[in-house]
This record gives sequence, structure tokens and C-alpha cells, in this order.
Amino acid sequence: MQNIAGYRRPYPGTQPNHLHPPYVSSIKRAPSKRLVYMPHTLSEVTGPVFGKESVDVRAFDLTRQHSGEPLGERIIVSGRVLDENSHPVPHTLVEIWQANVAGRYLHKVDQHDAPLDPNFTGCGHTLTDSEGRYRFVTIRPGEYPWRNHYNAWRPAHIHFSVFGPAFATRLITQMFFPGDPLLPFDPIFNCTADEKARNRLISVFDWETTIPEHALGYGFDIILAGREATPWEEPRFGGGK
Ligand SMILES: [Fe+2]
Repeated sequence: MQNIAGYRRPYPGTQPNHLHPPYVSSIKRAPSKRLVYMPHTLSEVTGPVFGKESVDVRAFDLTRQHSGEPLGERIIVSGRVLDENSHPVPHTLVEIWQANVAGRYLHKVDQHDAPLDPNFTGCGHTLTDSEGRYRFVTIRPGEYPWRNHYNAWRPAHIHFSVFGPAFATRLITQMFFPGDPLLPFDPIFNCTADEKARNRLISVFDWETTIPEHALGYGFDIILAGREATPWEEPRFGGGK
């Protein structure tokens, strides 16, 4: 069989632990047996590849998907997708999803007593450019309650899925906002033990992309693997609020 050079595995402490008891769902989801080492094979390191034909070029702007504009504070979220050697990852798929300004998702499972916005679906996607850059126009999402514990509220966040060059580099994470008072109390944000790694989930306010009289800009670079990798939103067995 052909020898496959796999991707680097995460550094200890820089990714969420499988079991993080303050995040109650992790108690049932965490594996109870030792993990089995799975070598990367051809199917993990060679695809999938998303071309221009899989992308709606207008989907980067979540404020223009309906007849009217959504309620809320318009923001620009942009950054670069980088690989484990800090090289840009060009033409890769970046998807986002988020709550509306009132903290409500357009999803049948979300029954939070807050209004839906007929002008906001909350999903977008785009491809990075030749230098690994992406850019979204959206609104700042609201905080919402989630019943993990008494008086539990999620800090404002945007969910990200980034594929990178292969299945093995796929990253699902959440972007937070600087200065959010709920961050120290959020079990999902705090799943990652390493403080520096955890803080890579917080976007940076950015004058460069702030548009006068229109929208504030936030920068969020995403690193797919290696020492500086962006943490997953939680251990790699799905879920996420
Ligand atoms: Fe969420």
C-alpha cells in the first residue's frame, strides 16, 4: 500500500477534552474506552474539493438573503484560513451559521422564547481567495439561554465549518466577540484547557475592515492544524449549541 503522509495530530491541551463535566452533554458523549488510533489514509488526505460550482457567490452576505434587511447591528467578519505551517489555504469552503439578533436560531429544535426575524436565515458560505482570505457580512448574533445549568447563557458566537484540503483537516469551531462578559462562564469556550489556544476563538475588533457609517469589522484567522491550531468547538464527536 502507498505510504500516506498524515496531518499532524493536535498538541495536548490545545483542543477540548472529550470529557468536560461542566459541559453536561459531554458526560454522555465522551468515549468510555481507550481511543483507537486511526492512521490517515488516502480518503482522509485527498479531498473533498469544493469548486466555484458548489458555491453561491452571494452567500457570503447574510443581510441580503430576503426582501428586507435583518434587524441587528451589521458586522463584517473576515480573516484568513492557514495550514499547520501558517501557509494560506486557498479556495477552501468556509461555512457559518448563527442565531439572529434576539438569540434565536431558525431551527425547529430552538424553542427559545425570542422572535424569529423573517429577514434572517442565519447561514452563509464562501470560498477563500487565492491568499486564503474569506469575508462575511452579517449581523451580530444575540446571546441565548441553553439549560446546561441554572441560568446558563451562551456568549454571542458564530459557528464555523472549514474544510481545508481534506477530510482530516476539517474544523468545526465557534467565533466569539472580544470583551464578552459571558465568556468566563461558558463551558463550551472553557472546554479547552490551554488559555492561549482558547483565546484564539475570540475575534479581534478591526478598524481595517470597519466601514464608516455602515458596519464594524471583526478579524478571525483560522489555523487548521499544528501548534497554533484553532480549537474545535468541542471534542470531535459533534453536537454544539
Ligand atoms: Fe450556537
